[in-house]
Amino acid sequence: MDVLIVGGGGREHALAWKLKQSPRIGKLYVAPGNGGTEALGCKNVAISVTDINALAKFASENNIGLTVVGPEEPLALGIVDLFKARDLRIFGPTKAAAQIESSKAFGKQLMKEANIPTAEHEVCSDFNQAISVVRRYTLPVVVKADGFAGGKGVYICKNFEEAEAALHTLFDVPGDVEHTVLIEQFLDGSELSIHAITDGTSFLMFPPSQDHKRALDGDLGKNTGGMGAICPVPWMPQGTPSFVEHRVIRAAFDAIRNYGIYFTGMLYPGILMTLNGPKVLEFNARFGDPECQVYMRLMKTDLLDLLEACVDGSIADRRIDWKYGYAISVVLASLGYPDAYKTGFKIEGIREAEIITEVVVFHGSTINDGELKTTGGRVLSVTAVGPTLKDAIDRAYEAVGKITFEGMQYRRDIGGTALKYDTTRS
Ligand code: GLY
Repeated sequence: MDVLIVGGGGREHALAWKLKQSPRIGKLYVAPGNGGTEALGCKNVAISVTDINALAKFASENNIGLTVVGPEEPLALGIVDLFKARDLRIFGPTKAAAQIESSKAFGKQLMKEANIPTAEHEVCSDFNQAISVVRRYTLPVVVKADGFAGGKGVYICKNFEEAEAALHTLFDVPGDVEHTVLIEQFLDGSELSIHAITDGTSFLMFPPSQDHKRALDGDLGKNTGGMGAICPVPWMPQGTPSFVEHRVIRAAFDAIRNYGIYFTGMLYPGILMTLNGPKVLEFNARFGDPECQVYMRLMKTDLLDLLEACVDGSIADRRIDWKYGYAISVVLASLGYPDAYKTGFKIEGIREAEIITEVVVFHGSTINDGELKTTGGRVLSVTAVGPTLKDAIDRAYEAVGKITFEGMQYRRDIGGTALKYDTTRS
């Protein structure tokens, strides 16, 4: 079967890497792809993820048997609705279902209706209203853009001035644009990413993973799209997966169905483990990045079979098998990310990195125009697996040490706090 992957980041490279292992895979196209997907033998297609009409035309003209959507933007634009209207098979939620992510306000509304534990919050549509909410909340507060921001429209504000500055950034945008901003009570705890794949009726849970959202070691610095992930999560309290399965995932699917919406694809709530139990920070309607990279390293099941079962409504008959051990992904970013950064720098050392046992380097923002160069913020995801978390961490960081590009920045503590909980540690 010929397959099209929509996207061009580390998540999509990881999906392509895993799909390539399916005995049933034919041609594998990635739009737009990157230097890594090209090196893997995929055909990169120069169509933007937001040009959903061109993507549908491409799928139709190239006899694509299945399209897999990576990022959130095409989902919010209705790529799944468009493909279905043209009888093209596609993995992902419809535009209505993707609102669970594309509108933070809608996500919060569902949480309220389904009694899903989350932080106290208010939805604001003008600056003055938002300021008065900030004054009523206990600091720190979280200021969030309602729409997509790739994890970067989230401001954790320690004082009133920071909150005011964040609100100016979100409200003072030129043009006649309507704004919705969420003010949320800050919660303290550790983040957990839970993924559930669904065909609209049944669902299967992935093992929990942990993203590291802040730019700097020790969970300091700005929020990013994600600087690294581990899977599984040894510090997770017993009973958490079952709690999340029933009180979050099933509850969310039931609540969205009350709107006449059937969610298919991947639902991934970002969860904060607080002293008062798990709280949902937000819902995402797709695979996380860099969580997908660790999942693909551990998944034993044929991904093509799994995605097709999801599209065809037969997920109830399936199970997902996982490798024993741990996976880690360390993101190598451009200097300045998540703020402004420069690109076009030569990348070296990937071959040497991949010689190390169980290391695979997924490309996030690269191009090969004769030599491999950086093109964006999150440049590479260096992944490794190992029988223990420590083995995985050691392998990944040894590999990181082989790679160079100008301004390369990364966290040195991915998986670090989890390490003392890994009882399989050697
Ligand atoms: N891991 C963060 C995200 O995918 O949004």
